[in-house]
Amino acid sequence: MTNLSVGIDKLSMYVPRYYIDMVELAKARDVDPDKYTIGIGQDAMAVPPVDQDVISMGANAASRILDDEDRDLIDQVIFATESSMDFSKAASTYLVDLLRINRNVRAYELKQACYSGTIGLLIACDYVRLHPDRKVLVVTSDIARYGLATSGEPTQGAGAMAMIVSANPRIMSIDPDTYPYAENAYDFWRPFYSDTAFVQGKYSTDLYIDVFVKTLKAFEQAQGDALEDLKALVLHLPFTKMAKKALAGYVDQDTLLESEQKARLVEGWLEYLPAETEFSRQIGNIYTGSLYLGLLSLLVHSDQLQAGDRLGLFSYGSGATGEFFTATLAEDFDHRIEAAIQLNHLASREKISIPDYEEIFNFEIASYEDKLDIPQSSQEHGYYLDYIENHQRFYNYEDTGDLLR
Ligand code: CAA
Repeated sequence: MTNLSVGIDKLSMYVPRYYIDMVELAKARDVDPDKYTIGIGQDAMAVPPVDQDVISMGANAASRILDDEDRDLIDQVIFATESSMDFSKAASTYLVDLLRINRNVRAYELKQACYSGTIGLLIACDYVRLHPDRKVLVVTSDIARYGLATSGEPTQGAGAMAMIVSANPRIMSIDPDTYPYAENAYDFWRPFYSDTAFVQGKYSTDLYIDVFVKTLKAFEQAQGDALEDLKALVLHLPFTKMAKKALAGYVDQDTLLESEQKARLVEGWLEYLPAETEFSRQIGNIYTGSLYLGLLSLLVHSDQLQAGDRLGLFSYGSGATGEFFTATLAEDFDHRIEAAIQLNHLASREKISIPDYEEIFNFEIASYEDKLDIPQSSQEHGYYLDYIENHQRFYNYEDTGDLLR
């Protein structure tokens, strides 16, 4: 049992159909475009049509990887989000039916800012270590909203990731020893009465770095200089520049390793950052899925990684929590990630204007007792929010026959 390899067997992303160009957003906000494209490191931002919510996006991400064997073997459907639409009903209950997963299943939702996808993944791994013949579906899905013309606006985004966790995984195994951290802080939060986040921007980036360094220090304490074995580090990406800031912070702050050794390690890890940040640069922050979007981007874009390479992963959730853990790439992982499909999916998006984005942003689904038909705008293969009636959400499925989108 202890040598059992457990981790991510399948991994997919779903990005909504629309995006805006960050240079156009900067011009509309009277900001130097270099601030967004270089200072923050974002070229485009995903915008979900009004008929895509976290449930439909999560279903769309998961439907790309599920087959009938998975549907029978899945024991848990874990949905991680900080854009939840219900204080009681878990988004995963919709997924069980929409995705035709067997109903003898544990279905629940997790919350702790951007970190909850990682909680889900690690719970799933622990479960499969105890039940090696079974699988767990982990879905992350979010719509990042700070508000029009706020300082957080260029770091919005939307999208979902799905992972199937199993024994003998064909993408990567995850090591059971992990390095978590938690404290009570107000760097980023969203009280129940607000549909946009509150944030103390500068404090949030400093706290991210602080938590990152603390978890790496805990790893150093437990495993000596085993960081030397890690080929690349994958980090939570609220915006792509954050990864560079965090790695610089690790070199600058006191930990157990000498700063020269850390500077050398970071130099090696920096080589992988363009590959790791490429998807986020085009999509923006997808909160709970951002770390896994970075992972997929790295696996799709890097031609340096090989089976057996070890990766470090850092998950951050404002409020504030973090966890550092390690993973090993499986044989033929590069065939499993279906790079062409992921790239095609991203390339098939449509650019919209800033006024159109603002109109979508301001579309409100308040409280409806009568039937509200949602304007259909996805126009693509997959699930979408169809209507709301008696405060209940109803979804539909459009079959265009074009799954590659
Ligand atoms: N050319 C090039 N660079 C420029 C520039 C120009 N013309 N103008 C400004 N810049 C640079 C600045 O020097 C700065 O770079 P450094 O941070 O490396 O110094 C960068 O662009 C951003 O400029 P500001 O700090 O002035 O930007 P800002 O005050 O408008 O806010 C932000 C930036 C704090 C990221 C803000 O967008 C924000 O609050 N975002 C949401 C919070 C967030 O993402 N926090 C991350 C940690 S929390 C987390 O990770 C959880 C999560 O997912 C939310």
